[in-house]
Amino acid sequence: MSNRFTISLTEFQLLRDYIEQHSGISLSDDKMYLIETRLSPLMVESGFQSYRDFYHFAIQDSSNRIRHKIIEAISTNETFWFRDTYPFAILNEVLLRQYADDIKNRQRKRIKIWSAACSTGQEPGSIAMTILEFARRNPWFDPSLVEIIATDISKIMLFLATAGRYDSLSMSRGLPLEMKERYFTKSGSVWVINDDVKKLITYKQINLIESFHHYGRHDIIFCRNVLIYFAKEQKQMIIKQIAELLRPGGYLFLGASEPIIYYSQEYEMMRHALGLYYQVKG
Ligand SMILES: C[S@@+](CC[C@H](N)C(=O)[O-])C[C@H]1O[C@@H](n2cnc3c(N)ncnc32)[C@H](O)[C@@H]1O
Repeated sequence: MSNRFTISLTEFQLLRDYIEQHSGISLSDDKMYLIETRLSPLMVESGFQSYRDFYHFAIQDSSNRIRHKIIEAISTNETFWFRDTYPFAILNEVLLRQYADDIKNRQRKRIKIWSAACSTGQEPGSIAMTILEFARRNPWFDPSLVEIIATDISKIMLFLATAGRYDSLSMSRGLPLEMKERYFTKSGSVWVINDDVKKLITYKQINLIESFHHYGRHDIIFCRNVLIYFAKEQKQMIIKQIAELLRPGGYLFLGASEPIIYYSQEYEMMRHALGLYYQVKG
């Protein structure tokens, strides 16, 4: 294989800045290989042999088609069912119990949950199954009172998540057998998520580095394993916007390796035996 698609430092800087400007994803200098390996197939497919020409093509593309493809090629979409376990245990043991009591006492009507950066849907699917399991144990609780909004920057991820069809490798990652049997139906070589799970979830495209104030107030927000790819200022901005979007006393879950403490004064850190989560102050 020829090495003519090796990227120069200047080309790397142009594409790196372009990617950060449009997605927030911040690539350090040691990530030149990432652009070479992930973008060269797209560059060739688009008819270019130079990263500089490809960059100029991207900035002039008014349809934004190439921009989406670049971001999709660079993004990491790794996800699995019930990732880290503890957010779903806390949701079940603490938050749903509290909110369900509020509903019973007529202090609230609905529960609104946002899975930001949902990738292929395992996170919102795990939230929905946790809710359905809670309702099985508490038959007076109506799961349709919970609304889950699941979003991602990537149209491809949203397409896959909406389809809700998973191969056996995805099904083997984190999904307990009883959940697989209860909430999925086998169709040929894939497993299709059942309608009772699907109907709790609405998928939408949202870019976290753009303003998302207008999406209404939420009780719980999952924003996990995406901020790690962003620069510090972006993380601060997103965490601040999330604080404004949460209802007073609402909760935020971050990825297990993403402590908020350095980025925001707006939250109280909550300790649970299994892990940390955050409550917005005030
Ligand atoms: C590693 S996955 C995390 C999936 C899931 N939250 C989890 O923890 O398993 C990161 C996701 O973030 C999405 N993403 C990257 N930049 C984004 C942005 N600016 N706005 C919204 N989503 C973004 C990617 O498309 C990808 O699906």
